[in-house]
Amino acid sequence: MNTPLKISILAGAMFALTACNNGNDTRAIEDTKAAEIWPKLDIAVKQDQEVEATVKEIMASMTLKQKVAQMIQPEIRDITVEDMRTYGFGSYLNGGGAFPNNNKHSTAEDWIKLADDMYLASVDESVDGTNIPTMWGTDAVHGHNNVIGATLFPHNIGLGAANNPDLIEKIASVTATEVMVTGIDWVFAPTVAVVRDDRWGRTYEGYSEDPEIVRNYAASIVKGLQGHADKDFLSDSRVISTVKHFIGDGGTVKGDDQGDNISSEQALFDIHAQGYVGGLTAGAQSVMASFNSWHGDKVHGNKYLLTDVLKDKMGFDGFVVGDWNGHGQVKGCTNDSCPQSINAGLDIFMVPTDAWKPLYENTIAQVKDGTIPMSRINDAVTRILRVKVRAGLFDKPSPADRKFSGKTELIGQQSHRDVARQAVRESLVLLKNKNNLLPLNPKLSILVAGDAADNIGKQSGGWSITWQGTNNTNADFPGGTSIYEGLQQQVTAAGGTINLNVDGEFEDKPDVAIVVFGEEPYAEGHGDRENLSYQQGDKRDLALIKKLNAQGIPVVSIFISG
Ligand code: BGC
Ligand code: BGC
Repeated sequence: MNTPLKISILAGAMFALTACNNGNDTRAIEDTKAAEIWPKLDIAVKQDQEVEATVKEIMASMTLKQKVAQMIQPEIRDITVEDMRTYGFGSYLNGGGAFPNNNKHSTAEDWIKLADDMYLASVDESVDGTNIPTMWGTDAVHGHNNVIGATLFPHNIGLGAANNPDLIEKIASVTATEVMVTGIDWVFAPTVAVVRDDRWGRTYEGYSEDPEIVRNYAASIVKGLQGHADKDFLSDSRVISTVKHFIGDGGTVKGDDQGDNISSEQALFDIHAQGYVGGLTAGAQSVMASFNSWHGDKVHGNKYLLTDVLKDKMGFDGFVVGDWNGHGQVKGCTNDSCPQSINAGLDIFMVPTDAWKPLYENTIAQVKDGTIPMSRINDAVTRILRVKVRAGLFDKPSPADRKFSGKTELIGQQSHRDVARQAVRESLVLLKNKNNLLPLNPKLSILVAGDAADNIGKQSGGWSITWQGTNNTNADFPGGTSIYEGLQQQVTAAGGTINLNVDGEFEDKPDVAIVVFGEEPYAEGHGDRENLSYQQGDKRDLALIKKLNAQGIPVVSIFISG
């Protein structure tokens, strides 16, 4: 089963609304001492003398150019394998909807081939003089969602509704396995935004508006992705995780994506930092800086938050990666040049587009002229190498020869889909059950209507194969089950009758109708809304429900929303 955002079911109701919450936290800045607000975390992964000595040794042999290359993360659409050989980038990514060879239908073998070619180029010292393995980061945010046939899980908002941390850990470990089949090392998840205004387009990427759920989930998902600090930490069946987006992404004014968070420092900790408390304590090795501002200052340039709070006070010793040219939004910066971010504590620039080359050159020049202190570069690269050594990247074979590589039968395998099915079941939210219409007797004659009934893309939401989750057909989700197909299997097996008609037309009057409807998929700012009312100005789905109701047919409404 391939599934969704959040599905709400209303039996007999005429319309649906998602739960509204309490809007922005606009408490004024309080004059509280940071030391009292931000605790030193008891991080499960301790520094190991051997690891530190190895890092020191590697560092001692590196040139400035090689060090800066570790801090540059370009995207697969903008570099070639030869660029990797020439520069030796510390990491690279594929953005949402970016595939090997620009082919949406790339097979697992195509993914591994690219991973292997990039890795081998990175350890080839013939041009750049280094043999430091690169690492590939991807947005596996609800399963390995860029890969056709991977198991998709409900988006985080649905998982939050399940409130089951053990299930979350299983989901994360399944995701890690499927990611490793494609030779990838690193996942840009979990998103631990504590969403305070549902008009935000990324509301569905957050688990909950309740910081406690987010804190517990962050720990579970990090353990599922990376393994447990005292057991199988970053073993050959685990990947590196990223807690994102630091900090305050879920609390911007009016839910504006990449907007301004004006919470007090205490609220920043109590509400928006709780996912970091959970995730970093469990040993997450990377943190992604957020696009948003805090009181008008972009976090990508905020030394207080990135260095003083995150690294010094909370004690995070992994690395901070930027978000998609997020550094270019810092005052005085462009995508090509941003010493401010490095000086603030950013360790890796995520620099898609062709900005990577000037950024690399400008950063080197800024170290040479003293704008960026060498000590800051050394600290950043030490952090990057520490994570690579901890993850065993220097010891692992090349991606094509790793434990799960190429075991394509693991992608979307039944036991993985069973976990997804459980997650779907537990994430459904029953809003109303008027006249106890539910549970339905499957022996009835059932009409299924609504344009989301047989539409796997719509039920899966954004970050599904494509970045926005749009432009997909059911055939793009092999192994997936639409809501109609799932109902059909059950009803037919029980001896009932079931018909699909998107517009709610029928020949024989049904005993009951199930109308499945909801939002079109979206990602990030594309999902920002002025208000929460559904289908403003054109309430077609409400009209469909009313039409059936007027004919005396009881209606079960299934609403899909982010
Ligand atoms: C990428 C996404 C990214 C977005 C940012 C898209 O082209 O595929 O991953 O988040 O751009 O604008
Ligand atoms: C998003 C991140 C994502 C990155 C890479 C950005 O636009 O904000 O969540 O990890 O793109 O795709």
